[in-house]
Amino acid sequence: MTLGPRDVGRRVVVRYLLETPQPGASATDVVGLLVAHDAAGLEVETRTGDRVRVPAARVVAAKPVPPRPAARRERSGPLIDADALQQICDQGWPARTRQRLGDWVLREAAGFTGRANSVLPVGDPGLPLDDALEAVQGFYDDHDLPALVQAVLGAGVEQRLLDAGWRVARHPEGVLVQVTSMSRARPTRGPTHGPTHGPKVELLETPTEEWMSVYGRTADVPADVVAGVLAGAPVTTFAAVGSGRPGGPVAIGRGVVTGGWLGLSAVEVVPTRRREGLARRVVDALLDWGAGQGAEAAYLQTMPGNAAALMLYAPYGFVTHHRYRYLAPGPGARVRPAPDRQAVGRDRAH
Ligand SMILES: CC(C)(COP(=O)(O)OP(=O)(O)OC[C@H]1O[C@@H](n2cnc3c(N)ncnc32)[C@H](O)[C@@H]1OP(=O)(O)O)[C@@H](O)C(=O)NCCC(=O)NCCS
Repeated sequence: MTLGPRDVGRRVVVRYLLETPQPGASATDVVGLLVAHDAAGLEVETRTGDRVRVPAARVVAAKPVPPRPAARRERSGPLIDADALQQICDQGWPARTRQRLGDWVLREAAGFTGRANSVLPVGDPGLPLDDALEAVQGFYDDHDLPALVQAVLGAGVEQRLLDAGWRVARHPEGVLVQVTSMSRARPTRGPTHGPTHGPKVELLETPTEEWMSVYGRTADVPADVVAGVLAGAPVTTFAAVGSGRPGGPVAIGRGVVTGGWLGLSAVEVVPTRRREGLARRVVDALLDWGAGQGAEAAYLQTMPGNAAALMLYAPYGFVTHHRYRYLAPGPGARVRPAPDRQAVGRDRAH
């Protein structure tokens, strides 16, 4: 079999032996998203959301196949390549300043989050790489921020930057971008998935002061810049449990829908109220809201070491689609390094 665990998240075709051979047919094919791969076998999620588990011993041939054409891909959600999903994530977390460099997007939001203060290097910058990187350095110098590029781990552009002397500056192990389909995520709710009753989740149109007090990771960034990123996409909602009670909410979350995708972020429960099922209630409410906004798939970003988050999201079918990390000019870079600048450090949430 030519596929491995690193192919999880790719579109694949797998030919496998039927458990009960039919007259004239001993094998069949399945095409879809590879959602699991281990020594025992692999699992493919088809366009309709069905999961087909194939034991390793029955695999005849398996290989990656190109993504489906865009229009059909949008309907089927997770069948999307890393660059396209990075663009969806970018739309859902809009930076204050977005300046084009060819196809690349140079982003800035006063240092609030790496995502909104780094280059999205998708496509062609329209310049030779050294010139493009020089322009990137100039842009971040102008904004008094360190030059950062958000690169998909293992992608061609990451290698080209490393070859040009850039170095991994943040999250060397990569931030996980996880995806699921709405058809997989929503029916998981029910008696086996947790209580269906409990404290009410309110959906707010804006991140209120109370909501922000739980989010609490904005440090010295002006409030309007933070609000611009959090609430800047046209279709967003802010979930809160216990809004208006003395002491403020006990759980929050944010949902955004762009291009048929629901992005989940800022899911947070105050430390004294964890393990009561509050995060699950927030995620359920955001999924329901996203479905109502027409989303057919969902994504989120989390750290590989965040066991609580990974355990929370796994029952919804979230699997890792790709990873990204941030590169900055190293000492050997062909553009000027900026050793005296601080790394963007206000981004507990990538
Ligand atoms: C992750 C977080 C939101 C979970 O909130 P929570 O309200 O405690 O989660 P829930 O009670 O709804 O738990 C749902 C499931 O998630 C998993 N889970 C939650 N916390 C866990 C932990 N510390 N360790 C292992 N699994 C955990 C469990 O499977 C749990 O189900 P169970 O209690 O029936 O075993 C919370 O720990 C938090 O606010 N962390 C800091 C912010 C953060 O990391 N947010 C996620 C960013 S992507």
